[in-house]
Amino acid sequence: MKPLRIALTKGRLEKSTIELFEKIGYNCDEVHNKGRKLILPIGNNDFEVVLAKAADVITYVESGVCDLGVVGKDTILENGTSFYELLDLGFGKCKFALACKKDYDFYHGYGTKTIATKYPNVTRNFFENKNMDVRVIKIEGSVELAPLVGLADGIVDIVETGSTLKANNLEVIEDVTNISARLIANIASLKLRKKEIEELERKLEAAIE
Ligand code: PRP
Repeated sequence: MKPLRIALTKGRLEKSTIELFEKIGYNCDEVHNKGRKLILPIGNNDFEVVLAKAADVITYVESGVCDLGVVGKDTILENGTSFYELLDLGFGKCKFALACKKDYDFYHGYGTKTIATKYPNVTRNFFENKNMDVRVIKIEGSVELAPLVGLADGIVDIVETGSTLKANNLEVIEDVTNISARLIANIASLKLRKKEIEELERKLEAAIE
């Protein structure tokens, strides 16, 4: 049978995922020596890893060209859910938080606040739940800049250690939600290759505990 194909978020999550696969006994040498290659076998050709950007992992899994994916909950919350979320992998832990300049009274006054973020859907949902009308500006990176230069009153962004906020004189006003890496599955793959996927899930679960 064809190897199960797993879309893996490149970078930090890639490293932790490969460590986890090695822990459950799969050889990942080809991934370690990948060079510029983007599709790599692991184990005894049991799996094929596809290295992709976070949002693309979801595209590949939703479309069915990949059976499984490893992606952060941040990307899942922002980019839709036409797939199964199987497992919290326990790494890639961070949070979404609302932050602004130190000593700025964010909730003061009635004017509509402006929020800069890489995650407009997460941001809109957060403020909708509060029944608060905000203007959302999409920024591609280094979102912390926006309140510093006066583009926004606050940001909704990922906070891991908090050092980026601290270095830029910003502080968390409120946590939005916790984030970690998740194993996701294509809906059809989960039916057609149930046994293999469930076996992998069991092994991963045991290794995480
Ligand atoms: C993320 C996030 C923050 C930073 C938080 O950025 O957007 O800027 O990490 O980490 P910290 O709390 O440990 O300082 P990333 O490095 O992914 O790059 P980006 O600025 O391009 O989004």
